Amino acid sequence: LPPGATPARSLDFQAVERFRDDAVHVPAGYRATVVYATGDALDASIPEYSGDGSESRYDLRAGDHHDGMNWFGLHTRADLRDDRNSTRGLLCVNHENISGTAQFLHATGGTNLAANSPNRPEEEVIKEIDAHGVSVVEMRRQAGALRTHKPSRYNRRITARTTVDLSGPVLGTAYVRTKFSPSGQQARGTLNNCGHGVTPWGTYLTCEENWASYFFRNAGDDALRTERENAQLRRNGITSGAGGFSYRRWDRVSANQYPASEFERWNCSVTGPTASDDYRNEPNTFGYVVEIDPYAPLSRPKKRTAMGRRATEGAWCSVPKPGRPLAFYIGCDSRNEYVYKYVTTERWNPSDAQRGGLATGDKYLDRGTIYAAVFNADGTGRWEALAMSNPKIAAGLAPSARFPEGYRFEDLADICVNTRLAGSAVGATRMDRPEWTAVNPFNGEIYITMTENPDRGNVGFSGNSVPNPGLDAANPRYWFDTKGATSQGAASSAQRGNVNGHIVRIREDRDDPGAMSFRWDIFLFGAQAQADAGQDDVNYQANVNLSGLTAANEISKPDGCWFSPTTGILYIQSDDNTMTDRSNAMLLAALPGRLGDGGAVDVVNKAAGAPDPAVRALGADVVQRTYAGRKMSELTLKRLFVGPMGAEITGLTETPDGRALFINVQHPGENTGRAGAVPPSVAITPATPSGPFESNWPGNAGYGPGGTVARPRSATVIITRIDGGIIGHDPALPM
Ligand code: FEO
Ligand code: CA
Ligand code: CA
Ligand code: CA
Repeated sequence: LPPGATPARSLDFQAVERFRDDAVHVPAGYRATVVYATGDALDASIPEYSGDGSESRYDLRAGDHHDGMNWFGLHTRADLRDDRNSTRGLLCVNHENISGTAQFLHATGGTNLAANSPNRPEEEVIKEIDAHGVSVVEMRRQAGALRTHKPSRYNRRITARTTVDLSGPVLGTAYVRTKFSPSGQQARGTLNNCGHGVTPWGTYLTCEENWASYFFRNAGDDALRTERENAQLRRNGITSGAGGFSYRRWDRVSANQYPASEFERWNCSVTGPTASDDYRNEPNTFGYVVEIDPYAPLSRPKKRTAMGRRATEGAWCSVPKPGRPLAFYIGCDSRNEYVYKYVTTERWNPSDAQRGGLATGDKYLDRGTIYAAVFNADGTGRWEALAMSNPKIAAGLAPSARFPEGYRFEDLADICVNTRLAGSAVGATRMDRPEWTAVNPFNGEIYITMTENPDRGNVGFSGNSVPNPGLDAANPRYWFDTKGATSQGAASSAQRGNVNGHIVRIREDRDDPGAMSFRWDIFLFGAQAQADAGQDDVNYQANVNLSGLTAANEISKPDGCWFSPTTGILYIQSDDNTMTDRSNAMLLAALPGRLGDGGAVDVVNKAAGAPDPAVRALGADVVQRTYAGRKMSELTLKRLFVGPMGAEITGLTETPDGRALFINVQHPGENTGRAGAVPPSVAITPATPSGPFESNWPGNAGYGPGGTVARPRSATVIITRIDGGIIGHDPALPM
């Protein structure tokens, strides 16, 4: 924190309205500048982005689906780390995925994607693999504005095929032996890099989220495995006879220019005599927190297995306290999954802040304990250690319909690979898709976004392999659609689960990152502003606007969240290209307050007595909790940015002076299809896109190739004030 810093007491900008057009919007007095878009060359040796899908070499270009990111300051004149510099720095950017059928990436979309079609072209698949991962790109202030610096020796891409080191308890174990690394020391690439983290010693943490969906597993593979292995695969959603939702037949390639193993590894079936002869263990090399040292361009990323494996969304560090352990707060982003923390065995030594590098990471991130959160109804909670010393872990999982033999943990490596099973064994609370975590730098409180969960409360639905959870105090909403629309996984047309999401807030007991217990409340409930009046116009009978949201701050599906260390403003982003909030995805600024300032006092309404007719109609055994809690107003929560059509807004960071806020526009033009993806009552501008793509951003904003044939591109945007002031709250300006 800057010495003497004080948190903002107000938000000094005019709220941005909702928009549904193909542009970005900021308040009067602000500017949004695109600086780094998919396909941008990172190296002067390759041609600039083509605009027609013909460019190659994504190992030297900006990847796709920009997500979490961080600014790492560099000294202005020397190649040295300088945490306080705002005019020269390294931007680390996650590249999570590619859109749909790669329709924006290749000239005419992905070739041979359909099952049973001929093999895929090698160059296409390499381009797709390389469009994933992480960018490190130098930025310099030139002519008054930050821009990428192409000749930088720091610029590099880490892709889904870059060699990485394994580290921690899983290193060298049977779980990670593959044909590529028979000794289990290394792995290839990082995948589905979603949220992020930053260490107090100045390294970047990239987190592997939906890695499981990239693999194919042969039909009949179950029979070639032990039930124990099948349980592990089942718990992570890797089914035999199918690929996941991001599977693009990367294993179906006739290799010519690249080694065949680049492609074979995306089929994780048993095909050889031992684990060192095939890629049966390839999935065990993904799902981790991966540490990257942006200041050491030749260093290999390290997968920190001690922090566990799951659909790892992000990993945000506690406020470091000398002599106390560090905690990293981690969401597992799937429906009904858990909130975790990793607590270091080593106590924080402030002299390590400047020592930096992956060697410092070895000290803190290779030895520690993973915990899973249990939220009690009374606003308290506890952290259950995922360690052999916990009797619940020692007992393992009892046999069940899903796990007929139950599950016994063998050792710490087992826990670190099969962290979700361990969370289940300790009875962690099943949450509404935990996404980003953020830590208030002024008081240490932890915020965790629960983006949505259409399955919540749908207890009668039998389509999932595990019964859906009912309501609980930390996941208290179950909404009903009375207009007949169906939803994913819904047993009946009336069930919508938690469609708008909420944000949970935690305060560790004694403010100790190593505490075993905590208090919690709910900071914000997403909703439509008109929900209370039943006037919501996107097919939802969304009957509760518990946080009192208005047109200035209504939001659905909170996802990214991050604190400005300069102002203490909590930024919240949305991932809602279904437009339940009647707007393209957005960024809100919040004054966070503190735990208990509104109180999450829950009132349990048996359906029979519930105020809402839709709740009553469901019968007496249905419970609806409502919270007489904190109400937001435009003074405490306000919209700062709205993105282009079809995008998610994500990836927050800021220069240390607070005068440049970076956000990412992810997958513009995705799912905005002309054929009814958006509820018909929602007007889109323009109503009928005139070109081949639904979005032409950022080409239509003057960045790269333009016109109605411009391909939509994920991109980093810098938000600045025209007067050069601090974003969101400028103490130098009169209020
Ligand atoms: Fe990749 Fe959970 O968002
Ligand atoms: Ca996310
Ligand atoms: Ca999301
Ligand atoms: Ca996304």
